Amino acid sequence: MHPDVLSAMALPLTGHLDPYFLAILDQINEMLRTVFVTQNLLTFPLSGTGSAGLEAALVNTLETGDTAVICVNGVFGERLCEVVKRCGARVERVEAPWGQPISPDDLARTMQRFPQARLVAAVHAETSTGVENNPAALGRVIREHAPDALFVLDAVTSLAGIPVNLDSCHVDICYSGTQKCLSVPPGLSPVSFSERAFARCQTRTTPTQSWYLDVSLIGRYLDASQRAYHHTAPISALFGLHEGLRRVLNEGLEARYRRHRAAGERLQQELKKRGYQLFAAEGARLPQLTSVLLPDGVDDAAVRNKLLHEQGIEIGGGLGAYAGKLWRIGLMGENATDEVVDRLLDALPS
Ligand SMILES: Cc1ncc(COP(=O)(O)O)c(C=O)c1O
Repeated sequence: MHPDVLSAMALPLTGHLDPYFLAILDQINEMLRTVFVTQNLLTFPLSGTGSAGLEAALVNTLETGDTAVICVNGVFGERLCEVVKRCGARVERVEAPWGQPISPDDLARTMQRFPQARLVAAVHAETSTGVENNPAALGRVIREHAPDALFVLDAVTSLAGIPVNLDSCHVDICYSGTQKCLSVPPGLSPVSFSERAFARCQTRTTPTQSWYLDVSLIGRYLDASQRAYHHTAPISALFGLHEGLRRVLNEGLEARYRRHRAAGERLQQELKKRGYQLFAAEGARLPQLTSVLLPDGVDDAAVRNKLLHEQGIEIGGGLGAYAGKLWRIGLMGENATDEVVDRLLDALPS
C-alpha cells in the first residue's frame, strides 16, 4: 500500500449519509467508471471482498432452474460454479486445462447448445494459474451465439493492472477486489452492472435470495434522488479506495498497464534465463501474476518460509493439484517495479 492510502484510512470519520461522505462516494463511482472503461451508471464499491462481488453478480441474476455457462480453467472458475449451484441454477462448463486459456471456439460450441443460457461467466485473470482469458474474444462469441445471455467477468486480479474494457468487450457485470492491482487493503469489491443487467435484476420473478447483496436495494442508496439507508457504508475503507483510485488515475491507466507489463516480463525473462519453467501458456501470461514450476529438488515450504522470514517477501504456493509444485508470484499495484523484481531474484535459489 502507498502510505497516502493508509493515511486516508486514518482520517476522521463521517456518517454514511453525511453530504461530505456522499460526495466522496460519487467521486469513487466516477473514478471506477474510468478504470472499468464503462458508462454503466450502476458502478460502485460493494461492501465485502472480491467474493462478495462474485456472489452479487450471480445471486441477483440467477433464479432456480436457470442455466449458466461457466468458463473453468482454475480455482476461481470453480468458485463461480459452486455459487451458481447454490443459486439453484444449472452449470454448463467450458473447460481448459490449468495453465491454458479458455478457447473462444469451445465457448462458441457450448453456446450453440445452450443459446437460452441466462449468463456466461469467465475469470479474466486466473490467479490460481497466472493465465489471462480474453474478454474481447469471449464477449464477441456470447453476443453472436446468445445475445440475451449476460456476460459476467471476474476482474479481481486484472483491474488496474491489465486493460479491462467493459463496454467494448460487451461485459454486463464485472466485479473486482481492492487488494490486487488497485493496491488498496482488502474489504471492498468494485462492481459494475450494465443497464440491461440491472433491468434483469429488477424484473426477476422471485426476490434476490441475499438481502445484503441485493443490488436493487443498494441502488437506492446510491441514487441521490431516492437515497435511503440500506447498510452502513464502511467509511474508512472507502476513504482508502478514494485515495487509491486517485493514485491510479494520476499515474494514468496506460502508464500503469505498461508498468505492470514491464515488471512482469522482466521477472519472467529472468526466471527463464535461470532455468525456471513458466507454467502459464505463452501468449496468455499475466504480467501481474507469474506462475512458475518448482525446479527439481527444491523444497516448496522451505524456500517460501525462508523468503518470508529472512527477506520479508511473500510468494504464493500452488493450489489444488499444483500444491507443492508451483509458485505464484504477484507483482501488483505498488509492487510492480524493477526494484521488487530484483529483490526477489536476488533471494530466489538459482
Ligand atoms: C480471480 C479471483 N476471483 C475471486 C477472488 C476472491 O476474492 P476475495 O478473496 O477478495 O474474496 C480472488 C481472490 O484472490 C481471485 O483471485
